[in-house]
Amino acid sequence: MSDLLSSGRTHTCGDLRAPDVGSEVVLMGWAHSSRDHGGLIFIDLRDRYGLTQVVADPSYSEEAHALAARVRGEWVLALRGQVIARPEGMANPNLETGAVEVRITELEVLSEAKTPPFPIEDDSDASEAIRLEYRYLDLRRPSLQKNFFLRHKATHAIRSYLSDHKFVDIETPVLTRSTPEGARDYLVPSRVQKGAFFALPQSPQMFKQILMVSGFDRYYQIVKCFRDEDLRADRQPEFTQIDIECAFMNRESFFGLMEGLMSAIWKETIGVELSPPFERISYSDAIERYGTDRPDRRLGMEMATISDIAAASEFKVFKAAIEKGGAARAMAGPGMAEASRKEIDGIISRAQELGAGGLAWVKRTESGYESNIAKFFAEGQLEQIGERIGAQVGDLVMMVADKPQVSAAVLGQLRLEIGERLGLAEKSGKRFDFCWVLDFPLLEWDEEDKRFFALHHPFTAPVPGDIPLFESDPGKIRALAYDLVLNGSEIGGGSQRIHQREVQQKMFAALGMDEAEAGRRFGFFMEALEYGTPPHGGIAFGLDRIAMLLTGSPSIRDVIAFPKTQRAVCLMTGAPATVETTQLRELGIQGIVAPR
Ligand code: AMO
Repeated sequence: MSDLLSSGRTHTCGDLRAPDVGSEVVLMGWAHSSRDHGGLIFIDLRDRYGLTQVVADPSYSEEAHALAARVRGEWVLALRGQVIARPEGMANPNLETGAVEVRITELEVLSEAKTPPFPIEDDSDASEAIRLEYRYLDLRRPSLQKNFFLRHKATHAIRSYLSDHKFVDIETPVLTRSTPEGARDYLVPSRVQKGAFFALPQSPQMFKQILMVSGFDRYYQIVKCFRDEDLRADRQPEFTQIDIECAFMNRESFFGLMEGLMSAIWKETIGVELSPPFERISYSDAIERYGTDRPDRRLGMEMATISDIAAASEFKVFKAAIEKGGAARAMAGPGMAEASRKEIDGIISRAQELGAGGLAWVKRTESGYESNIAKFFAEGQLEQIGERIGAQVGDLVMMVADKPQVSAAVLGQLRLEIGERLGLAEKSGKRFDFCWVLDFPLLEWDEEDKRFFALHHPFTAPVPGDIPLFESDPGKIRALAYDLVLNGSEIGGGSQRIHQREVQQKMFAALGMDEAEAGRRFGFFMEALEYGTPPHGGIAFGLDRIAMLLTGSPSIRDVIAFPKTQRAVCLMTGAPATVETTQLRELGIQGIVAPR
């Protein structure tokens, strides 16, 4: 081993300050940059803790100076030297170690490096593809490293809070059976049982419920989940949940516990004190006011249904849509009455792109409501619309009439885009707006497949009084489910669970599974419910999404060390990859046909 390595680091590259002047130190790290200033060679030495300027001066050590002249970016160095104060006027107040530098007396190159394909700097303009291919270099960037230090603090706070509240960390299997959470499964073929497959868990849902049957009472796990679904900026095929389940649960105290968990995370990571209890909003209210079940309430711009007013008007397009069972909705864009015709046309074509037939608009000005469609409205009708959505003088009223889901979704999306353009979230002054969304429907009808789907998952309990509706009107059943939403992002979802076999059976039947199929897929689970199952419930939070919000990252990939691309591949390792035919043969999956 080299001399310097065996004597060991005395300090990190972030440690040295003015009081250290005079001491002899050993530092190790990466050559961030180097400059030759008339014979003196300055190197910025970097490690995860910071940067320290070191100087090779031939009058201190000719040997070290000669070696320093060879050093290139990203070489790994070890050095011994003396801490000196930087000369008058040369201190760097932007650097924590900026008051000092280290004069090198001994220098070793621990590792040379090829020239990196992009500079290791926070403001790198390298493409994301190249950064993901060389992720180990990307991860050297201090801004990215900071995300992982914060994520580490978050998991530390989570474990400590949950452990203090009697939650037990229990691991559940990764090689398992399909767990329905609404996405496709990642499958793993079994070599021993030819033709049979494990599924990677979409969540540990059934296992955590079974742990309640076993009497663990409070469970948690920080756990990887796998979902083969279309990727977005806040979705990865492999992501991490803070998975939680409690027996004998009372919803109010459970919400309190979870709000405490959020408060602990926010305090320990970014020092922000949250102020629970978080507000609650019903699912139908969220759709009505924000056009989505994960509202960003900071934006204001609440929408309202105006079908009654539109139906009484002479505006034919709207009347026709309402007669066909549609809904007319409106919202006001603050200060947007100034918008040019071109800007308004842009909003209209965006609404069409999002699936609406069109968008009607009215400007509220000092002199009243102005629009090319004003003539279709009787005296007072536009005022009534304006009142319903709180339109102020200077606002632009936007209206869409279409199928109820379409008018809600289109205005909901426009609201987000306009809010972003106008910086409404920042203007609200609220940094973190949490809310619980409650009272979801249990089932959702899918027109294409002509069948019901579980809005959460099939283990969510119905409101007890609604159980008879399984026979008469399943679409009307309300669920004991809840989501936690933060700034328009769903950061957690959970529910009280079905704990009686008969109800579980009804749920599977409503989802179109006959008894035989339910038995084949979930027999073990339904049997477990028959051996003394306590009422229970829980939640899972998306740790990656929480880390995104805490760090203000625009992409989930910034808080995952080795993420996949939008096309679900790892550019660094090249996974997924083809395998040898012999491996396929061994697994018995060449030309396999699923049994009927
Ligand atoms: P759900 O499917 O709502 O619930 O997932 C819980 C939370 O996990 C996060 N999440 C994701 N994050 C990143 N990428 C993804 N592909 C992804 N999918 C989900 C979200 C979401 O709110 N078993 C239930 C929980 C329960 O009922 O206790 C479940 O998995 O933040």
